[in-house]
Amino acid sequence: MANDQTNASPDASNEDRRFFLKQSIAIAGLSAVPTGLLQAALEPDDGPVGNAVKIQLSLTINGKRKRISVDPRMSLLDLLRENLGLTGIKKGCDFGQCGACTVHIDGRRTLSCLTFAVMQHGRKVTTIEGLSHGGQLHPLQEAFIKHDGFQCGYCTPGQLMSGIACIREGYADSPDEVREYMSGNLCRCGAYPNIVDAILEVKKEGLKV
Ligand code: FES
Ligand code: FES
Repeated sequence: MANDQTNASPDASNEDRRFFLKQSIAIAGLSAVPTGLLQAALEPDDGPVGNAVKIQLSLTINGKRKRISVDPRMSLLDLLRENLGLTGIKKGCDFGQCGACTVHIDGRRTLSCLTFAVMQHGRKVTTIEGLSHGGQLHPLQEAFIKHDGFQCGYCTPGQLMSGIACIREGYADSPDEVREYMSGNLCRCGAYPNIVDAILEVKKEGLKV
């Protein structure tokens, strides 16, 4: 005996299948979205951007609380550079390969080109601009100067943010360890040996990072 599905017309059953797939994808997508993002998404801003609606989020950047409307497709890197004028952070590959865009999010190093801005709702972001205080450079910045840890300087903001994280994470006890845990940060000028020396010195002297 034929069942209901075999009696349905091919068009109708294709429609049902499409509807089912759409529902499943929507539900699966929602369950994967962090709570902070959902909260942010519940407060859409007025204006559409292309096909997207801007979303309001609040986050702390270099110690200052900010409330911003963003296109949900925007990377954190673009938000920082293009919207907030924090151009110390660099766009190298925009593809997670070079480390030039490294920032700290809640104290952890993160590639900002691979991170959606809207996902940072409620978080603390630190960029290279947030390292010095009252005109006083960060100890690792001082060490980079002392050891010639840069030439053109394009990779340097990312190297510094990763170097600080490397020391905090406890991976700066030997040149091999530093090289391993800094391997995500590329330097086309080849300043690697001097960068390693700078990081090792700050760790050895027990300077607060
Ligand atoms: S710009 Fe983000 S890793 Fe290269
Ligand atoms: S100092 Fe030029 S790319 Fe690193």
